[in-house]
Amino acid sequence: MDARHAQYLYELGITVWQRRELLNDSRLSPSDNTDISSASRETSVTVMDWPALEQAVKACTACGLRAGCTQTVFGVGNRRAEWLVIGEAPGADEDKQGEPFVGRAGQLLNSMLVAIGLQREQVYIANILKCRPPGNRDPKPEEAELCRPFLERQIALIQPRLILALGRIAAQNLLATDTPIGRLRGQVHQLHGIPVVVTYHPAYLLRSPGEKRKAWADLQFAVRTLKDGHA
Ligand code: URA
Repeated sequence: MDARHAQYLYELGITVWQRRELLNDSRLSPSDNTDISSASRETSVTVMDWPALEQAVKACTACGLRAGCTQTVFGVGNRRAEWLVIGEAPGADEDKQGEPFVGRAGQLLNSMLVAIGLQREQVYIANILKCRPPGNRDPKPEEAELCRPFLERQIALIQPRLILALGRIAAQNLLATDTPIGRLRGQVHQLHGIPVVVTYHPAYLLRSPGEKRKAWADLQFAVRTLKDGHA
């Protein structure tokens, strides 16, 4: 089945069954979701190409956040990037512009990337959630779970050599853990065989500039991780 076909079926809410071993390893939700419409949705997403995926994100109303935000924020950057940077959710600026990390935190993220020799355009940037939660509250677990197939498909399409998780919410969701961020830093985690390195969220660093030294150490650790061939 091609991606366009999958997209039609997805929009019709039709279940597409595939043998598990034929699925990309992006069959993703950490939970054992037995709801049929949700299972169908996830399975369709696993075969989408970029245009179909972008369309599916735009059309998604699964968790209810879409009703309260201006637009979806899909992700931006090099679709063949070695580095995939994952944040939490769009804020007010991102909701307005339709692009992740464009506000003050985004400017700091750009500087963090430049510090390790990367331009924003070289990496891919996405979030756990594609829609802005009201008042910038933390994503709810059910919102993150419903949005997860989209991120998983992005990961599968990009096949990055390293994932950089920004902040507690991104790290804990990606790694399906409630371990505090302080203990997730400084280790190489794995997601579908891709190394994951955790650092502080740039918005937190703006509030706590004294922690920037730790973030710098994390970035250097991520660079070393890639060089040492954990990927
Ligand atoms: N914070 C995030 O986690 N993501 C964005 O896109 C913007 C701010």
